[in-house]
Amino acid sequence: MKRRCAILHWLRCKFYVFVVSLLVVLVYRNISLDNSIYIEPYGVKQRSLKPQPLNGINCTAIYELEPVEIGKSLEIRRKNIVEVDDKSIVSFTADCKNYIEKRGYNEIFVTDEECSFPVAYSLVVHKNSAMVERILRAIYTPQNIYCIHYDQKSSKDFIAAMKNLEKCFPNVFIASKIESVHYAHITRLNADLNCLSDLLNSEVKWKYAINLCGQDFPLKSNYELVAELKKLNGANMLESSRPSELKRQRFQFQYELKDVSYEYHKMPVKTSNAKDPPPYDIEMFVGSAYFVLTQDFVTYIMNNQLAKDFLQWSADTYSPDEHFWATMARVPGVPGELQRSEPDVSDIKSRTRLVKWKYLEIRLYPQCTGAHRRSVCIYGAAELRWLLEDGHWFANKFDPKVDPVIIKCLEEKLEEKQRQQCLKRVS
Ligand SMILES: *[C@@H]1O[C@H](CO)[C@@H](O)[C@H](O)[C@H]1NC(C)=O
Repeated sequence: MKRRCAILHWLRCKFYVFVVSLLVVLVYRNISLDNSIYIEPYGVKQRSLKPQPLNGINCTAIYELEPVEIGKSLEIRRKNIVEVDDKSIVSFTADCKNYIEKRGYNEIFVTDEECSFPVAYSLVVHKNSAMVERILRAIYTPQNIYCIHYDQKSSKDFIAAMKNLEKCFPNVFIASKIESVHYAHITRLNADLNCLSDLLNSEVKWKYAINLCGQDFPLKSNYELVAELKKLNGANMLESSRPSELKRQRFQFQYELKDVSYEYHKMPVKTSNAKDPPPYDIEMFVGSAYFVLTQDFVTYIMNNQLAKDFLQWSADTYSPDEHFWATMARVPGVPGELQRSEPDVSDIKSRTRLVKWKYLEIRLYPQCTGAHRRSVCIYGAAELRWLLEDGHWFANKFDPKVDPVIIKCLEEKLEEKQRQQCLKRVS
């Protein structure tokens, strides 16, 4: 009897321990939910009536690298950072008038110089509509024109969000032809070409075209961009270097799009078939997928037989976007030609895109204060000043999940600059 009681008692104890543990887990979960911060540049929503820590960040102090403020940004990074999902963006952008007012699209300052110098953008994106919307807001002016290319594989909600953006602005449109984009494949290049072709057909008389992806962010205000573009004096700006023997393999052999088991699903894979040399004895150069191109050059690319043949020849190479532009820009006689005899244009010399590679940190630039993804820096808040002063026009990569403060502060600083530059111009 005593023994049975003891067993019962023991079981009851077990039960209590179980209940108490359950309670502890539940309470802990609640606390950790409270520890979440929501990335919402979209005005106050129900769930975040409490002031968000991001609103307490002083971006001027971040810019000045004040220790207390940098400390606050590190504190935020330890929290569970929750992004706005595509569904919320769809409902937020459904009512255009409200959306435009809430995000201040109706309060953007522009000067006459900017109005007479429209810029065309090709945005090749596939996910995270909240981030795409923030990029659009950061580069938006009423006189520019924006083409969005989403991916055939993008989610229904993401596509709906992009279509809402198209509906809300007369100068934002979706590419008329949508590719299923694969990493390092010709489809990536085609996505930009589809947009460029549509942009040429638009009524806006843009002078230059710039392409961006979903992890880029501008480092210059539109006012500054226009001033810089004018200084190019009709030249294109992009990387263009002589290829190493290793890089040459990318177009000396045929590549086939194949299923790969890891993150990209499908990728061009090298075969043992050697490729013919490029048509017209074109001398090959390599660079990046990112460009700043004149309208004349883009017209040439779309209409010239050599460009068409070279594009076709590039279809089974590896990452053709990284040699197509670099090579075409050096073809004798193209608009804004960069002479073949000219030295290499590296990613440091061409200011189109700043990408911080892990192995060049310290040697070429200060260490990454965010995190690395595949050897590329995802910027952190302590790089704000360096990014704005470095001289590049755009940078890659940003991720609100790694550091939301750097994106918020870039937005704030760029808007502040644009406003000051316009007011100074007008007065
Ligand atoms: C933000 O920080 C700057 C630099 O320390 C300071 O001058 C300014 O007063 C601060 N602004 C606010 C609103 O606290």
